[in-house]
Amino acid sequence: MEFLKTYPDPRLDVYLGSAEHIRRALETLNHSRPDAVVSGIPFSTMPAEVGRKILHEIWSCRLPGGRFVAYQLMRRVTFLAPLLLGDPQVRLELRIVPPLRVYAWRKPA
Ligand SMILES: C[S@@+](CC[C@H](N)C(=O)[O-])C[C@H]1O[C@@H](n2cnc3c(N)ncnc32)[C@H](O)[C@@H]1O
Repeated sequence: MEFLKTYPDPRLDVYLGSAEHIRRALETLNHSRPDAVVSGIPFSTMPAEVGRKILHEIWSCRLPGGRFVAYQLMRRVTFLAPLLLGDPQVRLELRIVPPLRVYAWRKPA
């Protein structure tokens, strides 16, 4: 965490906390309207209610036309809130070890 804060790139803001509170984190960092949320957190191993809460938080981040991208080992993220997110675009990324599936959703504008 402290190392990341010293990383010399003005585009990087660092915040430590659970993605369950992503809206609060974004407001704290003055990024309350992100174009995209990219996540590698393990939706397959967390309790379903925590995963659903995170997906609702991400979806309500006011992302009109914005994207949510999750790279995952397991497909569980697609089952947690299908009515909210709809069907994702799915791509297998072989350049990651182990290969992961990349799920991408776009929120209607
Ligand atoms: C498999 S590691 C992936 C690390 C990194 N994102 C990557 O792709 O290399 C999963 C990470 O998700 C984080 N994580 C798990 N649950 C989380 C949550 N509710 N909110 C934020 N991060 C979480 C863990 O702390 C861990 O660092």
